[in-house]
Amino acid sequence: MASDGETIAARYLFIGAGRRVAFVDRSIELLWGVTSHTLRSEPKLWLERIHPDDRPQVVAAFEGPSGSTWSLDYRVRRRDGTVVWVNDQGRALKVGRSRQVSGRVVDVTRQRRLEERLRVQVQLIDAVGESVMAADRAGLVSSWNRAAARLFGVKAGEAVGRPLVELVFAPAQRDVVVDAMRGVLELGASWSGELRLLRRDGREVPGHVTLAPLVGADDAVTGVVVMALDINDLRTAQARAEKSEHDHRGLVEQLRRLTAHLHVVREQEQRRIARDVHDELGQMLTGLKLDVGWLRRRVESGVDIRNGNPSANGDASGSGDLTGAQLRERLAGIAQLVDQTLDAVRHIARQLRPPALDDLGLETAVEWLVEDFRSRTGLACELRCDLDGLPAPGPHDTAAFRIVQEALTNVTRHAEAAHVLVDLRQVRGRLVIDVVDDGRGVPRAALRAPFSLGIIGMRERARACGGELTLRRVAGGGTRVRARLPLTGADAPAPATAADAAPVAEGAAAETSR
Ligand SMILES: Nc1ncnc2c1ncn2[C@@H]1O[C@H](COP(=O)(O)OP(=O)(O)OP(=O)(O)O)[C@@H](O)[C@H]1O
Ligand SMILES: [Mg+2]
Repeated sequence: MASDGETIAARYLFIGAGRRVAFVDRSIELLWGVTSHTLRSEPKLWLERIHPDDRPQVVAAFEGPSGSTWSLDYRVRRRDGTVVWVNDQGRALKVGRSRQVSGRVVDVTRQRRLEERLRVQVQLIDAVGESVMAADRAGLVSSWNRAAARLFGVKAGEAVGRPLVELVFAPAQRDVVVDAMRGVLELGASWSGELRLLRRDGREVPGHVTLAPLVGADDAVTGVVVMALDINDLRTAQARAEKSEHDHRGLVEQLRRLTAHLHVVREQEQRRIARDVHDELGQMLTGLKLDVGWLRRRVESGVDIRNGNPSANGDASGSGDLTGAQLRERLAGIAQLVDQTLDAVRHIARQLRPPALDDLGLETAVEWLVEDFRSRTGLACELRCDLDGLPAPGPHDTAAFRIVQEALTNVTRHAEAAHVLVDLRQVRGRLVIDVVDDGRGVPRAALRAPFSLGIIGMRERARACGGELTLRRVAGGGTRVRARLPLTGADAPAPATAADAAPVAEGAAAETSR
């Protein structure tokens, strides 16, 4: 019987393709997990212990024609559940009238495991992004991973057996590499540095290269491992990372300025409203209070309101000369003051939120805006509104209103235009808004500058409800502001389509949608 450390082997001889066991070594117990004695009394155990997946090939071999031989690797499951790999070399023979199958099974479990581990290691080396290659002491390639195939444009099959230095390095670098390799082979020390790599197409790329010794079982250096990294790739990745960080910082700065701007705007708004309330409402209410006080004193002193004379028992307190007409006039004044106060309240409220938007919807609110624009600027402003069957009011209404408002304000302040078109329409589940003027055109710098807060504000409004906004110069001068806002709600922006065609002929000179 074989002992530990030795290869376990057992010979066998069957009569009649395995139906009867004529002979089997006792060491079979170490492989099959059953004694030779048991096998002799129960020959079917031989096949039963073989892994079901492997069994057919064994059966086929055993039943092959006389004179046939085989060498098969298969698995045997022992009674305790452990699995061994065996190599079976045997032959079938016809002796007289009976058929014999004889051979030898050898335990190859260790080799199998080693091969498996090697396969995993090759896969691991193939999986790394860095080029990993090996050369023997003569400098010939013995290993070449997938990344190396990619980087150099040479497949492993083509590379193996060829001189590594010539395959991998630019001619001018070869002396340096040969020296470094000699150091690795003789001293077992690693080396690394930057070298120019040579690709199959003749292009050279800068690479970071490491050479390390390949050590054999007896600690002798058997070759060199070469690892190479294309630094161009690294530089590109680094540049990309830097750009994205720069963009990010730009956005943060833009956001910071926008927030500051919003604070200033709100501050100004509040100051204006406070002034309106103080100056207009305050004065009127003070006037009213004086009038009402005056009236109360008259009533308390018993003035006869119908004809203005003090009543008989009342205190005249200097009002005896008040006529009925004067009193009515005073009351009419009070009523007028109340009306003015109401107007002022309405005016202030309208400044805070356009009433038409809530009460009458987007279309009427935009009409009001356009009418207001016409009367303030005297410019021709055409309104096209095709919003029939617009779904229930949503976040797009306020966004649309404010975008048109800011775009028209910009026309007033910057465009020097003669004609403006405001166009609102529905296109495939989106509200498309155009404000087009024929003025001097938005300067390219303003398109690029991330600090145009009116423009940023419009864009943010569009984004906040799932839409987008673009600004461009149009052919023949002028500016077009276009917003596309989803009508289905902020969560489900529909994709932009070619059908969102502009209502006026134009050619883009520049566009931004940052
Ligand atoms: N319709 C337009 N025609 C020409 N130039 C325009 C037009 N709209 C915007 N611009 C240019 O773009 C710049 C940025 O506009 P934006 O609305 O962001 O800022 P603003 O109007 O100057 O200030 P605010 O923050 O008060 O709106 C303007 O200063 C102007 O130069
Ligand atoms: Mg503006």
